[in-house]
Order: sequence, then structure tokens, then C-alpha cells
Amino acid sequence: MTATFCEYKPGLENIPATKSSISHVNGQEGILEYRGIRIEELASKSSFLETAYLLIWDSLPSAIQLKEFETDILYHRRIKYRIRDMMKCFPETGHPMDALQTSAAALGLFYSRRALDDPEYIRKAVVRILAKIPTMVAAFHQMRRGNDAIQPNDDLDYATNFLYMLTERKPHPIAARIFDVCLMLHAEHTINASTFSAMVTASTLTDPYAVIASAVGTLAGPLHGGANEEVLLMLEEIGSKDNVLPYIENRIANKQKIMGFGHRVYKVKDPRAAILQQLAEQLFEETGHDPYYDIALELEKVVEGKLGAKGIYANVDFYSGLVYRKLGIPADLFTPIFAIARVAGWLAHWKEQLAVNRIFRPTQVYTGDHNKPYVSIKERT
Ligand code: CMC
Repeated sequence: MTATFCEYKPGLENIPATKSSISHVNGQEGILEYRGIRIEELASKSSFLETAYLLIWDSLPSAIQLKEFETDILYHRRIKYRIRDMMKCFPETGHPMDALQTSAAALGLFYSRRALDDPEYIRKAVVRILAKIPTMVAAFHQMRRGNDAIQPNDDLDYATNFLYMLTERKPHPIAARIFDVCLMLHAEHTINASTFSAMVTASTLTDPYAVIASAVGTLAGPLHGGANEEVLLMLEEIGSKDNVLPYIENRIANKQKIMGFGHRVYKVKDPRAAILQQLAEQLFEETGHDPYYDIALELEKVVEGKLGAKGIYANVDFYSGLVYRKLGIPADLFTPIFAIARVAGWLAHWKEQLAVNRIFRPTQVYTGDHNKPYVSIKERT
């Protein structure tokens, strides 16, 4: 066997892939910081666009900088009619994450100049991507229902405008604020699978649209961003509080994962899950109770009792689906919404990667044969 200079760890668990100053997770104490600021503080005081600015440019913007950034994004929200025409050809039964990945990649066809050492090019790409991704998610949702895409409304802020494009109605200000906080909570989370994917793609010095498209494809899987959709399907399947215990016992006995629980880094309850739970409660107080919340509370209690000793607690995806459901958002848009938020983190890592770039080229532990003879096709059994 070939000698290797370091131990192979499946899933690269605990192997540093980069040096980064963007975010930090303390998994034992349940702490998440963006650029050193605790997530709880940002969730109560900041906005998604201000948080995106913080992540990407490493400092909170001044009032003028924030206004300029918001205005720039507002001006770039529209998408080319050719992209809309392309999206009209997508099958309406296709998953919105697949539609988003394709549309994000298509941006590269329209903005093909690549000048990665030009700060103005970087700024423009950041603005375009943050501005257009929500428009593309909402446009596909309208088109698959046979409607024309709803144009962005210049009088509405980022979160309000997205909910408006999705539903054709202006949301209640509390609903829009809660949605904006959800975007902040999902904006960044160190070197998870999709961020790593973005960094690997960025390290080849390709264009930023390819970086975002590869990250969207990675986020789509059920072990990553796709879990929030699965949580809601699970609550539907359970149907009532009384069914929770047998459902969980059956899944554990069959070695099946419980969606919305467990995390590679957190060994206590994910701090984002705690904030989302509070937001869900606030929303239910304003707009009426959701019986699925009772099932979710019982589920969390049972899972903690059975798996808490192994460090398995609710993660960010457990309560986000309940919030989105109450906002009237269909389950298959939960992961695209995760992508709208995580674009901020992916862009911050893209910029950080470019500043110290070396192409990713890990090694492998070869487990195959050597010097095997080529057997002609007639002699093969
Ligand atoms: N339900 C039941 N058992 C679990 C769960 C779960 N959700 N998560 C982990 N375990 C068990 C697992 O069976 C294993 O047990 P044993 O050692 O006895 O074989 C042990 O815990 C370690 O599991 P693992 O899969 O090796 O842990 P990991 O660090 O590779 O996986 C995870 C982390 C998030 C992929 C996993 O917890 C999981 O699949 N959870 C369900 C899907 C989910 O909610 N994903 C969203 C993650 S947070 C947002 C995001 O990253 O997008």
C-alpha cells in the first residue's frame, strides 16, 4: 500500500481547508459569529443586506455605504428577458433548485467579462448576484404556475420585494422582517459542503456565476440545504403529536436519520434553531397558531431524549420550514430561499479565496490494482 503523509478522514472531518476570518462556530457552546459579531446581535439589530455587506467587505457599512449598496442592488434586480424566456422552457414539474442552478449559470453568458483583479468588477458581480438570485427564484415559481414573472417593485426593500414577487401581494411588515432575519441566519456558516464547493470552483479562477451555480447544486442535497423541505414532509407524515414517539423509535430502529437534527460541528442546539423557534412563535402569535408546531415541539423533546447524549439536537433546518410555511411559501422553495441567503457567504468566500488563491488539488489514498493485463473483449467472461 502507498504510504500517505496524513490520516484519511472521510468527509474531511476536522481537516482545515482554508484560513478564514468570515465566520466562526463554537459547536460545544452553540455560538455562531459573523466577522466576530454574535448571530443573536445581528438578528436583532441588523438587516440581511447590511449583514451581507459585513460578510463580504469585512466591516459594517457606514450609513452612506449601506444606502449606496441597497440602491445598487435595487437597480440590478431585473433579469434579462432572454433569461426569462429560457426559464419559460423549463419543465414546470422541475425542482426550483435545478431551475436556480441553471439560471445562475446562465448569468455568466450575459456578463461574460472576467476581471478578477478589478475591485469594480468584483463589486458589480456581488451586486448582480445578490440582486438577481431572488428575482430568478420568484420568476420560476410564477412561470411554473403559468403566470408571467412579476417585475421587482422599486418601492420595496429586499425581503418585502421577494415576498411580493412570489405572491403578488405586499406582505405584512412583521412577516417581511421575520423573513429578512431568516436570510441573516442562513447567510454564512464556515466551510460547509456548498461553501467548499464554491471555494474549489473559485480556485480555478472561473467566473463568479459558475462559482454560485456550483454552490447551488451542492446545497440542493437532502443532507445539506434540502433538509428543511424534508422536515416539513416529515411533520406531514407524522400528522399528530401522538404519532411522534412511534415514528422516531421506528426511524432509530431502522438506522434512518431524522431530518432537521444533527450537525457536523454543533453538539448542542444550533443557535440559529433557537432564534428561528422564537421567530416562529412570534409569527404564530401575530397570524394564528400552526398545529404542526405542536408536533415539532414534541418531536424535539423525543429526539433530545433519545439522541441528545450523542450530541444530536435541532439544527437550523428544523424550525425554518415552519416559519416559511406560515409565510405561505411552498416547501420546494425552502432550499432556494436558503440559497438566496447563502449567496452572501459564498461571495465572501469567493473574494477571500481570490485574495490568497492556490488551486485546490488534494490527494487520494489509492485502493485499486497495479499492472493488470488488458484482457481482449473476446476473452472477457
Ligand atoms: N438522526 C439520527 N441519527 C443521526 C442524525 C439524525 N439526524 N444525525 C446524526 N446521527 C447519528 C448517525 O446515525 C451516527 O450514529 P452512529 O455513530 O451510531 O452510526 C452519528 O450520529 C454520526 O452521524 P454522521 O452522519 O456520521 O454525522 P455527520 O457529522 O457526518 O453528519 C449531518 C451531519 C448534518 C449530515 C447529519 O446529522 C444528518 O444527516 N442530519 C439530517 C439531515 C439534516 O438535518 N441536515 C441539515 C444540516 S444543518 C444545515 C446544512 O448543513 O445545510
